[in-house]
Amino acid sequence: MFKSIQWKIVLIYALLILLAMQFFAVFITRALERYYLNTYAASLEAQGLLLATFLQRHLVADEEGATLDRLVGEFSRYAGTSEILVLDAFGRVLSSSRPDSDVRGQRIIQEEIARALTGSRSEEIRLDPVTRERAKYLALPVRSGEKTLGVVYLAGSLEPIYRTLREIQYIFLTGALLVICATVLLGFVLAKTITGPIKEITGKAARIARGDFGQRLLVRSGDEIGHLSEMFNYLSAQLEATLRKEREFVGNVSHELRTPLTTLKSYTETLLAGAMHEPAVCRSFLTTMERETDRMVRLVKDLLALTQHDYHQVRWQKRKQALDGLLREIVDELEPSCRENGRSIKLSLPAEPVQVVFDRDKIKQVLLNLLQNAFQFTARDGQIDVSLAENGEQAVITVRDNGIGLQQEEIERIFERFYRVDKARSRDQGGTGLGLSIAREIVHGHGGSIYVDSEPTRFTMVTVMLPRALCEKGAVANCGNA
Ligand SMILES: Nc1ncnc2c1ncn2[C@@H]1O[C@H](COP(=O)(O)OP(=O)(O)O)[C@@H](O)[C@H]1O
Ligand SMILES: [Mg+2]
Repeated sequence: MFKSIQWKIVLIYALLILLAMQFFAVFITRALERYYLNTYAASLEAQGLLLATFLQRHLVADEEGATLDRLVGEFSRYAGTSEILVLDAFGRVLSSSRPDSDVRGQRIIQEEIARALTGSRSEEIRLDPVTRERAKYLALPVRSGEKTLGVVYLAGSLEPIYRTLREIQYIFLTGALLVICATVLLGFVLAKTITGPIKEITGKAARIARGDFGQRLLVRSGDEIGHLSEMFNYLSAQLEATLRKEREFVGNVSHELRTPLTTLKSYTETLLAGAMHEPAVCRSFLTTMERETDRMVRLVKDLLALTQHDYHQVRWQKRKQALDGLLREIVDELEPSCRENGRSIKLSLPAEPVQVVFDRDKIKQVLLNLLQNAFQFTARDGQIDVSLAENGEQAVITVRDNGIGLQQEEIERIFERFYRVDKARSRDQGGTGLGLSIAREIVHGHGGSIYVDSEPTRFTMVTVMLPRALCEKGAVANCGNA
């Protein structure tokens, strides 16, 4: 139980408060004790001095005990003392404030008195032998010139002071207990606000671990715990999305493979059932079967490529080179078949070659796919424009066609795996629906970006931006093919 953060917090809080209160209590009682004792000593002294001054005359005159008794008796009634003694120059008691005491005439042997008889004041704190209480004793000499006429001896109990101090300590103690109780309660509540959400997160994480996805937390605060909850929700959502995509992906793959496999199977069956003896049918069937097999091979190749990108296992062969050459090469390659099929293709290059660090085969794959798409989705008299330009630190390639175009919501989806606006048309042309996904992975792998602009029935333009190779950071200089 004490392993929980909640208890640790409560314990630390309580100990801290206890320590602080203890420190405070000791400090205060010490200060108060000193203050009370000093005040009491001062008042005792003032009374003693006053009495000594009064007595001086009487002692000089060597008056009788009765006068002294009256004086001392009256004095002690107003003074906060427990006893006042007046002694003569030999230490014999002349008068006592306690009328019942019969100490008169006795010699009191007490250190303070002995010292006072030699002319100096003396004080002491010790236990009263009778009451067993702490008392203050003060002996003051009564003097006339150099001569010591006698001694005024005052005793006062300090018990009231210590009683007050004990009361204060008691108040502190009860206060401390109350504060500790409050601290434990508050600490518990405070700790709960921390441990509660943590427990909740742990619980939900455990449920996710058991396969119960889609767990979400309520974000209650903007503090660290709130951020943790937000992060948890984000992670959870990501996990869910990833899993959903994975499932969709597997579904798509199965579906894409099933169609050609079904074709192959039925064609094989037909051939075996006798069609293979008719050369014309046999040839046509085998041609279709070859096409379907090719498509499957392409599909598997594309899937492998995507997997490599997903797991960052692509071996890049990047080299700094001019993009111009690659573009020309591709256009030259495709031009004959374009012309044959009634499309015209135009390339415009900048005056200066544009240097980029790139993987030639991979970027070629991207551009081939874009051009194939442009070809595929334009009519017979279609026009395809390829251009290269530089824009600040970017090399900008555009592939534009005046074909069927795309709706806005289609534009948003065409980079998704297996997404095709017209599945049948794409499939007829041998498309797998993975071309643009792979293209995007490759472009991103070069630190670039790819986006599409289109208007239905009018045009489609794909723009690829790749960071230019610059000699020094920030400097757009001519740096040859180093
Ligand atoms: N130039 C274009 N004009 C119109 N639609 C296009 C164009 N390029 C791509 N598309 C749409 O995007 C989809 C995905 O393209 P892609 O990933 O290359 O797959 P595929 O070419 O195998 O169908 C295509 O099926 C098509 O619907
Ligand atoms: Mg394509």
